[in-house]
Amino acid sequence: MKLTNVQKLIDTAKTLVASDKGLLAMDESNPTCNKRFAKLGIPQTEECRRAYRELIVTTPGLGEFISGAILYDETIRQQKKDGTPFLQVIAEAGIIPGIKVDMGAKALAGHPGETITEGLDGLRDRLQEYAQMGARFAKWRAVLTIGADIPSAGGIEANAQALARYAALCQEAGLVPIVEPEVLMDGEHTLEQCGEVTAAVLQIVFQQLYTQRVLLEGMILKPNMVLPGLTCPQQASVDEVADATVQCLLRTVPAAVPGIAFLSGGQSSEIASARLNAMNLRFKVQAPWALTFSFGRAIQQPALELWHGKESNVLAAQQALLHRARYNGAARQGEYKT
Ligand code: 13P
Repeated sequence: MKLTNVQKLIDTAKTLVASDKGLLAMDESNPTCNKRFAKLGIPQTEECRRAYRELIVTTPGLGEFISGAILYDETIRQQKKDGTPFLQVIAEAGIIPGIKVDMGAKALAGHPGETITEGLDGLRDRLQEYAQMGARFAKWRAVLTIGADIPSAGGIEANAQALARYAALCQEAGLVPIVEPEVLMDGEHTLEQCGEVTAAVLQIVFQQLYTQRVLLEGMILKPNMVLPGLTCPQQASVDEVADATVQCLLRTVPAAVPGIAFLSGGQSSEIASARLNAMNLRFKVQAPWALTFSFGRAIQQPALELWHGKESNVLAAQQALLHRARYNGAARQGEYKT
């Protein structure tokens, strides 16, 4: 890799996880965004998606707590109503723009119940275009489900290899890859089972990243927290989740990685912040990497519910968004209080 790219990647990755900031995932694909709108009776149109994203990027003060925003292909090309490109609004707020580049999880042949994330074909050209537009980092999400006999070795390896090939292409293009292997919360599994599966997945992911010559200092890991399944009768305390998550990460994530930015995965806003807070309170000093957030729903959901598609609710929704961003900033310091 050219030396100029190496330093640029390291600097961007460090900036994304610096101090008390984190990432905002606002990269829902159109089908996912529409699904969330439909639940609240918001029209599922391009204009509504644009108006909602305008609300987010124009929230005053957002850059105080958000270092980077992950956009979707539609959103990165959109503008405010007055014609100002979102990319310009984000840059002026001091927020680094990023882009989701995977094409979604599809059924993995020969592996019932498992998926493989697609999007490697033509990725080099797409990355080049996004980099020219001003994106400085990217995201790719692999999805793993815990169930009877899954995830399988084949399912884990295929997804880990795709993540590593994506990450190598990103770094070639000068973009910091966010590597997101998400073990879903759905299921009856215990906290311990989630810890075992997450560790197994991360081990293979880092093996593949090494094999594909990915610069660890120039990437960010976006994992799930280690949690009991949603329908597991034995739920866990905030501290138990913090301990199990950090133990799993200490065993699997090399110290060269600058930051770990958690996904929220369907946890409520408050509980996601509380769990991140507990991790920083208990482990900030000894953890070799920053422990931060890259939340989608856990930052956006209260704002989306307040907005409800109405112009008159924009200010209240922006306040709710800023509130969650600020609280997650506090959670990075172990200073979050509900
Ligand atoms: P959630 O925090 O809502 O899980 O979204 C994060 C994300 O980017 C999923 O790919």
